Amino acid sequence: MKILCVVGARPNFVKIAPILRAIDAVNACRRGAGSMLESVLVHTEQHYDDAMSAAFFTDLRIPRPKWTLGVGSGSHATQTAEVMRRFEPVVIEERPHVVLVVGDVNSTVACALTAAKLGTRVAHVEAGLRSFDRTMPEELNRLVTDALSDFLFTSEDSANENLRREGQPAEKVFFVGNVMIDSLLSCRQLARRSTIRERVGLTRQRNGDDYVLVTMHRPSNVDVESKLEPILRALAEMSWELPVIFPAHPRTRTRIAEFGLERYVDPNGTNGSPAIIRPGRISLLEPIGYLDFLQLMADARLVLTDSGGIQEETTCLGVPCLTLRENTERPVTLTAGTNTLVGTDAGRILECARKAIGNGRCVASLPPMWDGHAAERIVQILAEHLPE
Ligand code: UD1
Repeated sequence: MKILCVVGARPNFVKIAPILRAIDAVNACRRGAGSMLESVLVHTEQHYDDAMSAAFFTDLRIPRPKWTLGVGSGSHATQTAEVMRRFEPVVIEERPHVVLVVGDVNSTVACALTAAKLGTRVAHVEAGLRSFDRTMPEELNRLVTDALSDFLFTSEDSANENLRREGQPAEKVFFVGNVMIDSLLSCRQLARRSTIRERVGLTRQRNGDDYVLVTMHRPSNVDVESKLEPILRALAEMSWELPVIFPAHPRTRTRIAEFGLERYVDPNGTNGSPAIIRPGRISLLEPIGYLDFLQLMADARLVLTDSGGIQEETTCLGVPCLTLRENTERPVTLTAGTNTLVGTDAGRILECARKAIGNGRCVASLPPMWDGHAAERIVQILAEHLPE
């Protein structure tokens, strides 16, 4: 059975790693007894920088992709169309039994659509999540991908409910757990060896190693000056109390420069050189690798983010998380986790951050099936349902 596995952007790498490992594990058990599973990895290269892509392959020990499509950046239509154009001949040549896509990025929907049009079955990992906000590009990607998929692998109960409401037959929906948490649990030990705090100059600062960690890259937050400015103002204000460390996505860094908002940041601290950590300024870093980021997250007093996956990772780590959005497609992180939606109002962000810092660490409680074995369940289900 041949499984064509697709990755394109940073969060995809974290999700595919445990699935590839689970396929290898099944093969190791079957050696000499039973047919083997074949995984073929395709990287669309929607993300292409070393820091956004190659570093994750190294940290997560993902094998070199058999196919790299060189798609790169572009408008939504261009990027999606370009992935489809370049992915189609791969599916035709490889003739897989199933195309497996993860998450909700443009590469996810483009490859799902390409495969479905060629009559190839599609498996979607992280199916059914809904923010109910169609202005988010990811929400459209999720809706279309799920509509096209034959296997809908879900990570939380809200997703099962959403798919049921949308009329998906129960036989297609498999509640398997969270592959991002598989990666986190399997890398937690290794990440503890990271020297990232020393490298960014954190331990030499006041307050020992207490700090606030920030990530932000959603177009709705960073592409509009009237949104980005108050958020940065609130973060700079917060840095009078605790260092604010912000490994910035290239999009965010570009916008800060474009809108002339450098007064809020110290634009230094690449992976190799320590950041300047000054009260009143946000310490901007280059994007950092998976293991370093995991360790920074685990040790943070508070995380502020607009990412989807980080809401889940902080829940698992028991670190308080404030999400800079009005909604989340991952409601279990609010009900069972450490996440709070705070929106983008500067006053509210500061108020909630001060409160969360005052409250200290949360007790980590893992949502159902976030046990580190989601990928094994996915591979098992595919092996049972697809022809040998
Ligand atoms: C994409 C996903 C988003 C995900 C995020 C994780 C879509 C619609 N969005 O957003 O869901 O949360 O990845 O990071 O698929 N760039 C670089 N180097 C890179 C990649 C991007 O400099 O390796 C810059 C380019 O200027 C590019 C911009 O970042 O135009 C945006 O990249 P893009 O892939 O369009 O979307 P993301 O914002 O990264």
